Amino acid sequence: MTWRATILTLFPEMFPGPLGVSLAGRALASGLWALEARDIRASATDKHRSVDDTPAGGGPGMVLRADVLAAAIDATYAAPSAPRLLMSPRGRPLTQSRVRELATGPGALIVCGRFEGVDQRVIEARQLEEVSIGDYVLSGGEIAAMALIDACVRLLPGVMGKAESGAEESFSDSLLEYPHYTRPQIFESLPIPEILTSGDHAKVAAWRRAEAERLTRTRRPDLWVTGQEGRKNTTEG
Ligand code: ADE
Repeated sequence: MTWRATILTLFPEMFPGPLGVSLAGRALASGLWALEARDIRASATDKHRSVDDTPAGGGPGMVLRADVLAAAIDATYAAPSAPRLLMSPRGRPLTQSRVRELATGPGALIVCGRFEGVDQRVIEARQLEEVSIGDYVLSGGEIAAMALIDACVRLLPGVMGKAESGAEESFSDSLLEYPHYTRPQIFESLPIPEILTSGDHAKVAAWRRAEAERLTRTRRPDLWVTGQEGRKNTTEG
């Protein structure tokens, strides 16, 4: 079964957008995954096709209506075991381990929020899992959905070649990735670290590990602490 992203949005024309080029785009064109963007507005029922209304209790902005979004979800076929996600800055932060889980499953139904939010009742009634891509606010969930889909698609079988394989990349061991270098040997009087051109593979591996640990400790002390348990049985104590 093909991994399938089904998106509910008020702006279906945003898709595939950046997912239509490069790695994800080539994989989409060759059928390694499928994308369907559906217009929430198609489920509006009144003559103005309205999808939002003013917040109960007052306040600024508009809220996506529960009835319209529920109708859009109910009219959408997605694999019964596919999670239903709602992109939202209130959600649980997306992690590489959740991305790995999603990539292993059949795909996802992804609701893109707009306006100030989505009526809470539809989140509960349709069991939407709120997912955030970071502690900042986007103008809508579409770009967040693209980020999530891109992260999943690159892990699907056949999408990345051996050369690009994600085995050694950032977060695979709760570590940030070590620094990379390539020719020229000297750039603006900065040489490539000598160890990398020594041909000693064990020394190269040890240097990279040490650099990954140093970067993680200084830039991401949170990741360093949470990853420490898992690393205990490897090289770090
Ligand atoms: N919609 C708006 N901001 C968002 C964020 N940070 N993550 C996911 N969806 C969003």
